[in-house]
Amino acid sequence: MTSALPYANGPVHIGHLAGVYVPADIYVRYLRLKGREVLFVGGSDEHGVPVTIRARKEGCTPQDVVDRYHGIIKKSFEDFGISFDVYSRTTSAIHHKFAADFFRKLYDEGKFVEIESEQYYDEQAGEFLTDRNIRGECPKCHAPEAYGDQCEKCGSTLSPDELINPYNAVTGNPLVKRSTRHWYLPLEQYQPWLEQWILNEHKEWRPNVYGQCKSWLDGGLKPRAVTRDLNWGIPVPVEGAEGKVLYVWFDAPIGYISNTKELCDANPEKYGTWQQWWQSDESRLIHFIGKDNIVFHCIVFPSMLKAHGDYILPDNVPANEFLNLEGNKISTSKNYAVWLNEYLEELPGRQDELRYVLTANAPETKDNDFTWADFQARCNNELVAVYGNFVNRALQLTKKYYDGIVPECGQLTDTDRQTLAEFSQVKERVEALLEEFKFREAQKEAMNLARIGNKYIADEEPWKVIKTDPERVKTVIYISLQLTANLAIAFEPFLPFSSARLRAMLNMDTFRWDDLGKTDLLPSGKQLGEPSLLFSKIEDETIKQQMDKLEATIKANAAAEAKAAPVKDTITYDDFQKLDIRVGTVLECERVPKMKKLLRFLIDDGLERRTIVSGIAQWYEPEALVGKQVLFIANLAPREFKNGLVSQGMILSAEDYDGTISVTTVEHAVKAGSQVS
Ligand code: 2FM
Ligand code: ZN
Repeated sequence: MTSALPYANGPVHIGHLAGVYVPADIYVRYLRLKGREVLFVGGSDEHGVPVTIRARKEGCTPQDVVDRYHGIIKKSFEDFGISFDVYSRTTSAIHHKFAADFFRKLYDEGKFVEIESEQYYDEQAGEFLTDRNIRGECPKCHAPEAYGDQCEKCGSTLSPDELINPYNAVTGNPLVKRSTRHWYLPLEQYQPWLEQWILNEHKEWRPNVYGQCKSWLDGGLKPRAVTRDLNWGIPVPVEGAEGKVLYVWFDAPIGYISNTKELCDANPEKYGTWQQWWQSDESRLIHFIGKDNIVFHCIVFPSMLKAHGDYILPDNVPANEFLNLEGNKISTSKNYAVWLNEYLEELPGRQDELRYVLTANAPETKDNDFTWADFQARCNNELVAVYGNFVNRALQLTKKYYDGIVPECGQLTDTDRQTLAEFSQVKERVEALLEEFKFREAQKEAMNLARIGNKYIADEEPWKVIKTDPERVKTVIYISLQLTANLAIAFEPFLPFSSARLRAMLNMDTFRWDDLGKTDLLPSGKQLGEPSLLFSKIEDETIKQQMDKLEATIKANAAAEAKAAPVKDTITYDDFQKLDIRVGTVLECERVPKMKKLLRFLIDDGLERRTIVSGIAQWYEPEALVGKQVLFIANLAPREFKNGLVSQGMILSAEDYDGTISVTTVEHAVKAGSQVS
């Protein structure tokens, strides 16, 4: 199993987790619990233009960038329990050699075609530009800053030649065409084979994946360049190819194999050889990715593997759609995201809560939206009120009535039997859903189990029955404990941290998927561990802080993108002369009761004292303005407010692009009443 190698040009966010890493981790944990032999391979994608762009922005080398973000990303994955067997990087020496050898084999066997073509070149900077480094006007929606490969505004896939007035995204220089030589994989030669393999033999792939493949194939495949003119990447291992590197999308998927090799070579006894995983018919390959990666994993990489000849092909590619955040697109470049490292600083210990909500809302069939309100509701109404509540009741009552020892099971009632029967069916249901990569539904089934448990204990009311029929309570608690043990297993792939804690509370020694549905997992007489709460409520204040943070980002982005307002219609000098602008000294300033936006000023205007009311309360503490010398219009007609307050003039202030207000003052002290011209 592989999951897309994230670019090491920034931290990872909830979109990454929801789209790729949580579903992959659910699946791999499930397979491991089933006792299947599985390797989960990940790593950082450290080449490519995004890394070089970040380096230029931050004024450091690409190596600095990838060192920093590889560390941050790797830690985030560990923190969220993404249980890779190996998480390496494409700048490793093993990978460089492996990818270069792969290229060289295809090159030696004549699997590439060499094509000389005109590419955009920046004469002042002396460099060829990759698609991502070219910007210009979008030919479709006319957004001014579309990329050479894609317009972020309208989502169209573009080629640099389509851009209107292309320029270098970094230097801003205009571009000219210059000829350069590159190696291409002639995808059109693989078209008939791909059509057979995907369209006929893999009809079971998700409709979004199958559909995208079909539309690529229907459009007719063309040769794809696998090298670039760039100084960051794996040098093309061919004489005369100086200044050229392997295209990042050529080397990155090979990273899945080289990372496997790194793991296996280090510990062959435990993991076997990398060839056993990648070159044996006994092995099954699954790629977890986001939808923007479909063409590379379903068409380009399989063609590379086919061209090489020794490799197995992916059996399935369960790609997800995108996750939005509060109705907006998540964006690394605009810093609009919930970053995993920051989430854990702000909501420490709440990994499972995020995993749960992201799976509950997984963008499996369409783009989905993450909202903090939904996060809070699901945590509090489902994890705390259903799952946590049931488990806590069962364990606390066991402790209270039986010193934490599993009681005897007596005669079963119809309700008991029915409840147990529902649990025993769950294994097949969850398993079938997981095998089809329907993680959202599978988790829902697990939560339904918790609902059944919660209802059972609420209906049976052992805390009441204990007074009249203590024997019956033993059976109710016995059953509740068996249900709890089942929940620990069923939720392990989804909520590994909570399951580990629950397992410790239950003192469970064996813990296998195939035990799911059994109703004697905890024998009578077994001593349980110390119970503690599985989940705790998410407070309103926590949600508000997160919302405020997103709002601040939106404002900052708006400010960064905003342009100055157009200049108003021309006025004459006489018009201007009509305005009597003066300096006033603020004698008093206070908030106006019941009028949230208003401040009431008492101003010394040099002749007398006047009251001016101004709608800037959001931006100032009134005390901070007392003593300040402000500019005001002295001859504006008085204006009366709803509450009878009259403003005799207007204080001048500047409104920043983000709406922030700043009162205008004078550079050095002048007498109150000084005129401004
Ligand atoms: O889209 C991305 O973030 C790429 N870095 C994914 C690469 S997946 C694989 F091929 F390595
Ligand atoms: Zn566009």
